[in-house]
Amino acid sequence: MRDLNSDCAAMIRDLLAWYDVHAREMPWRVGPAKRAAGERPDPYKVWLSEVMLQQTTVAAVREYFLRFTKRWPAVPDLAAAEDADVMSEWAGLGYYARARNLLKCARAVASDFGGTFPDSYEGLLKLPGIGPYTAAAISSIAFDRPETVLDGNVERVMARLHNIHEPLPGVKPVLTDRAAELTPAQRPGDYAQAVMDLGATICTPRNPACGICPWRDPCAARAAGTAAELPRKTPKKPKPTRNGIVYLAKSADGTWLLERRPDKGLLGGMLGWPGSEWNETPAANPPFAADWQGIGSEVRHTFTHFHLILQVMTAELPAGFNPNPAQELIPRHDFRPSSLPTVMRKAFDLYQGR
Ligand code: ADE
Repeated sequence: MRDLNSDCAAMIRDLLAWYDVHAREMPWRVGPAKRAAGERPDPYKVWLSEVMLQQTTVAAVREYFLRFTKRWPAVPDLAAAEDADVMSEWAGLGYYARARNLLKCARAVASDFGGTFPDSYEGLLKLPGIGPYTAAAISSIAFDRPETVLDGNVERVMARLHNIHEPLPGVKPVLTDRAAELTPAQRPGDYAQAVMDLGATICTPRNPACGICPWRDPCAARAAGTAAELPRKTPKKPKPTRNGIVYLAKSADGTWLLERRPDKGLLGGMLGWPGSEWNETPAANPPFAADWQGIGSEVRHTFTHFHLILQVMTAELPAGFNPNPAQELIPRHDFRPSSLPTVMRKAFDLYQGR
């Protein structure tokens, strides 16, 4: 008869042995050899990386992480940062509520915890922007607590390991239970990162490399030949398309007119071009009266819940233009397209290439 506990123990041993050799290097990670020698990761770096990695790939996060930690090396530095500086460093990563919560969280840790993160799942969960996934990731990776970390990679690994065909998201609680059974008391931080690495590098969505997988023998989907079909997903509703207009205005001396978006809502707190609402038939609302010209091409961008098509209009900004409180005049030398959210940067790129 199979003994679940000894099966699990063998699987944990095999996965950790694989991780000892194949752990990916990441700028926020303390690899298995250094961990074994007693080194522990900086909770600030683990937290920052995990917030950045929500909805975003390791490759996209790396440069952002390095820039953030160079500019703000520890919690008190970030807590003291200007909101606008953090938002512009975050530009391009998307899901901007994460950046606003990042600042709130840094300030809460600085003021309520003397700059040190709480070291338990429950303590972490109370902080702004830290949900169940992030609390589990930080408590296991930074504090070696045996919490179960379930991201998209781990969901896929569990669905295949147990050949589970019910679709996501409904089956998520079952996958959580399966993942919890395996979470070890020994080396839980290494284990959490090992399962995520396994999902990212071997148990990949397409063409999983089952032949070199440390879990090839216990994997039920490999035995059934169904690994590449799993996990199944309930089909998503098609996204609607919305329309909008943005107005790019530059003065004769190269000064740009930008507008900070309200904190609440999409791209909240980010600088962008003045523009219309985004709906089926947006009304024109230029920031000043002028002979606005279309640039002859349109921006296409996809958000979580809709596709957006933006018309790009341009005119010269009049000398002496008086901005409203939401608007900012940015001199030529201070204007950095990289500090715009991607949809707004796309409009600028089209304008440049027109
Ligand atoms: N994805 C999100 N967090 C990760 C981590 N710490 N290691 C590997 N992949 C991850």
